[in-house]
Amino acid sequence: MPVCPLICQPDPARFQASLQRISQRFAIYAATSPQPLPAPGLVIAPEIRLQSELYLPITEIRQLFYRLYRQVIPHPPVFSSTPLHDCPSWADFFVALPAWLQGSSNPAVLLEQLLHTPDLLTRFVFYSFLPSRFNGAGFGRYPEQLNWLQQHLKVQAGKQLRVLDAACGSGEGTWELAELLAENGWQSEQVHLEGWTLEPLEVWVAQNRSLPHQMERETIYQRRVQPLLEQGWGERISFFALDLLEGQTTRDGFDLILCNGLLGGPIIHQPAQLQQAVKQLAGLLASGGILLIADHFHGGWKKRVPEAVLGALIEKVGLQVRQAGEGLAAIMANRNTVALSGCISRLPDRCNRCRARFYDVHCYPAETLRPDSSVDGQSPD
Ligand SMILES: C[S@@+](CC[C@H](N)C(=O)[O-])C[C@H]1O[C@@H](n2cnc3c(N)ncnc32)[C@H](O)[C@@H]1O
Repeated sequence: MPVCPLICQPDPARFQASLQRISQRFAIYAATSPQPLPAPGLVIAPEIRLQSELYLPITEIRQLFYRLYRQVIPHPPVFSSTPLHDCPSWADFFVALPAWLQGSSNPAVLLEQLLHTPDLLTRFVFYSFLPSRFNGAGFGRYPEQLNWLQQHLKVQAGKQLRVLDAACGSGEGTWELAELLAENGWQSEQVHLEGWTLEPLEVWVAQNRSLPHQMERETIYQRRVQPLLEQGWGERISFFALDLLEGQTTRDGFDLILCNGLLGGPIIHQPAQLQQAVKQLAGLLASGGILLIADHFHGGWKKRVPEAVLGALIEKVGLQVRQAGEGLAAIMANRNTVALSGCISRLPDRCNRCRARFYDVHCYPAETLRPDSSVDGQSPD
């Protein structure tokens, strides 16, 4: 495992008092709880959760682990990414841990191990800030979007293509995009591809194709990317830690931007933030550029922010909207520019749901358009 310079060793002495207190509580829990202690595979019934909360309140455990995160990574931790963020109890947290972290159901033992085992700590930190709900198994997240691109993006000799994967996470989608371009005749020298994401640990993963907490996925990642590296694509792809909500600008603008798994779900769903993000993305497009947006949100997010709401926001910033694979295509077109300077072939101009001209809100019942419609579940991407 390559050494990640973003992980610092914490000082165990600073945790001793907390560890002692938690250990004592755990001993009482183990000796007196009428319910089973958390164990791998245990189904957490409400009574088990209640007992866990009684002896080892998750708020305290969360604070302890957050303190560890603050000591270990040099940038401000994005706590909302971590599995502790909205976990209802220690028991729930424990059973969801990967097997290599389930050595003991005593949180003090886990913390002690993390404090004294650098490799385990590294894997734990990556497990925490790169949750599998963000990138799933990595590749193949939006095949229909890629199909759409394949059908519409035509190679042009001499044309330079500037591409951004906004909110690229661990970068598999970015490399997959490079793969598609290469398979469709684009030479690496024609393409400038950037991946932006909020989390610096993700940037490190994308740059190194290293996933310390998921070795199998790492092997798949490296094998998949190797041919691209051999064709020189490594020099054409760069990853940056950037906050899309913080007014990023670009001198040249991007011809193609992908923004998957970010807009309209657990991360960005408040109307003001959504508007800001859409405006930002539109501002990053070159004239004639195309923005592709898709997500795998479930658990009620689609009710709260249906595609029509997103479509309407996109139209508000002056882009034309179409269906594109799993999501939408937003086109910065005007009379004088052809999308992607002619690299994008003619686009369908009707919604494939309601057949309305362009993508439109026609096909959605009015009540789904209210931005404050209730969410019937909180499962993220
Ligand atoms: C669900 S993941 C999607 C990753 C990848 N695009 C995909 O579809 O597989 C969402 C990503 O958005 C990133 N993110 C969240 N807020 C962001 C922001 N304000 N600016 C840039 N990236 C952000 C997270 O770090 C995370 O990697």
